[in-house]
Amino acid sequence: MQINEHIAARLCGVLDWPADRAGAVAAMLAAPPDPALGDVAFPCFGLAKERRQAPPLIAKDLAAKIGSDDVIARAVAAGPYLNFFLDRGRVTPGVLSAALGDPAGFGRRGFGAGRTAVVDFSSPNIAKPFHFGHLRSTNIGAGIARLLEFQGYRVVRRNYIGDWGTQFGFVIHAWRRWGDEAELEARAIDYLVELYIRAYRESEQDAGVRDDARNLFLRLEQGDPEIRALWSRFRELSLGGFRDTYRRLGIEFDSYAGESAVNDAVGPVIDRFMKAGVAVESEGALVVPVADVIGREIAPCMLRKSDGASTYAARDCAEALARYEAFGFDANIYVVSRQEDHFAQVFAALGKLGQAEGWADPWPGRCENVSFGFVRGMSTRKGEAVWLDAVLNEARDQARRQRLEKSAANVRAFPELSPGELDAVSEAVGLAAVLYFDVSARRMTDVTFDWKTVLQFEGNTGPYLQYSHARMCGIFRKALDAGLAPSAAPDNVARLGNAEEWALVLKLLGFAPTLERATREREPFEVARYLNELSAVFNAFYNAHQVIDPADAALSRARLALVGATRGVLATGLGLLGLTALETM
Ligand code: ARG
Repeated sequence: MQINEHIAARLCGVLDWPADRAGAVAAMLAAPPDPALGDVAFPCFGLAKERRQAPPLIAKDLAAKIGSDDVIARAVAAGPYLNFFLDRGRVTPGVLSAALGDPAGFGRRGFGAGRTAVVDFSSPNIAKPFHFGHLRSTNIGAGIARLLEFQGYRVVRRNYIGDWGTQFGFVIHAWRRWGDEAELEARAIDYLVELYIRAYRESEQDAGVRDDARNLFLRLEQGDPEIRALWSRFRELSLGGFRDTYRRLGIEFDSYAGESAVNDAVGPVIDRFMKAGVAVESEGALVVPVADVIGREIAPCMLRKSDGASTYAARDCAEALARYEAFGFDANIYVVSRQEDHFAQVFAALGKLGQAEGWADPWPGRCENVSFGFVRGMSTRKGEAVWLDAVLNEARDQARRQRLEKSAANVRAFPELSPGELDAVSEAVGLAAVLYFDVSARRMTDVTFDWKTVLQFEGNTGPYLQYSHARMCGIFRKALDAGLAPSAAPDNVARLGNAEEWALVLKLLGFAPTLERATREREPFEVARYLNELSAVFNAFYNAHQVIDPADAALSRARLALVGATRGVLATGLGLLGLTALETM
């Protein structure tokens, strides 16, 4: 049931507007500040100019024309707003039976059917640490991929590993000077990172180091077997560590083919740019000027450096071309922060190539860079380098301590768990705390991590959502003991209607529009915010009313339907954010 769409369509009808304006109208609908004013509000300010009428008059006029139907009970003017009261008796059973009938599909609008989206996310650099910034890409990217998939997109998850480039020159330079087999065996990626940092620091004093590193990378590009063997060994060692982290996060990729895999394609692609007359020589380098098409001052897209080495941008051009060949995508999304210029250059260079070669499909216009802000305050207790795994371990350990303390303080509310259960709960809660934190603000917002708040069972946290879910599961366990099952049959549901119940029904109605917005805006935060509000509305209901009243089976069954629908929505939302919906905590 798409309430806002229904209202928007009715509004277009009485406004004599074409149906294709309904989307814009639906986007203007909001909840009134006070539920007593109505369920949905339409502000009339925007119409004043077009209709040459004062907004309050427009509201009155529309209210008289709308009347009632099987969704709208009545529409009333309140100043410049037109407020709608929904027909609770018809809306409630519709929502509850839809949510209970298809818990996993409720909220889906399916606009991705028949479409393909490539999502490039995580994409860490090998031999540089996987830190919290990469977690944001991993987490936000995985969230976007799940949202797209939920809407029916075929999603291709690409981990475009940074396994190529001068940084390998530094690592190999360091290895040849200071490398220690035993250390490499024992500490793998940690050791490679140390080597990289050591060589890089030295290059700041000694230009010879930089030159040697550059030269080593050139030899790698040319396929020198000795260098290539070293590189391949370092790559495998690093990848192993990344894979463990992804497994822990429950994230899978369709491919780990990184920058190195595109290497062979780069030369021919650069030739295409030259043949098309799009690339020009500049101080020995080969570049595509893009400021003209981007419309601001921006460096050209560099395809080849003056020393002959290919660039990150050239590789991304070749990679995007290959992606289009392979998938003919409807969207090609790069979840990467602080590379806005890089992607603007790459997309513009590809656009120019397309124009020069006369492509029928201007697909570079469907490439997007989804960026995000900084994370501050992220360090482990010991204040050591910010390795993601260390942070996840710390979160797990703190969750465990907290759970033990809760049992000690109130064993009735928090019964002691078996060691196995305690392990599973601590890991799930720790992950939820860290992963939710990452999407608890709009992605472009800089966020500050704080151990004390992220693990709370209240507030804007992942554990709060898990706790709400576990509480709903607890209600169902009790219902089972009392022999009661949910029922969304109109006769039962007619018993619902108090303020808290209706607030929850309205919130459930907001799930589908929220998921649509989250998907279109590539903003998993929208889901997080919604679930947080849903939990608050649910807890207000739960604190005000008894769900199970053995003396009133009909009411109990209707309330169970409401709780069941809410639990299903919460579970779906948690899944979309990559959090485990725990049944007990
Ligand atoms: N490896 C890069 C980094 O960590 C990110 C790669 C993003 N993806 C891409 N196709 N350029 O900075």
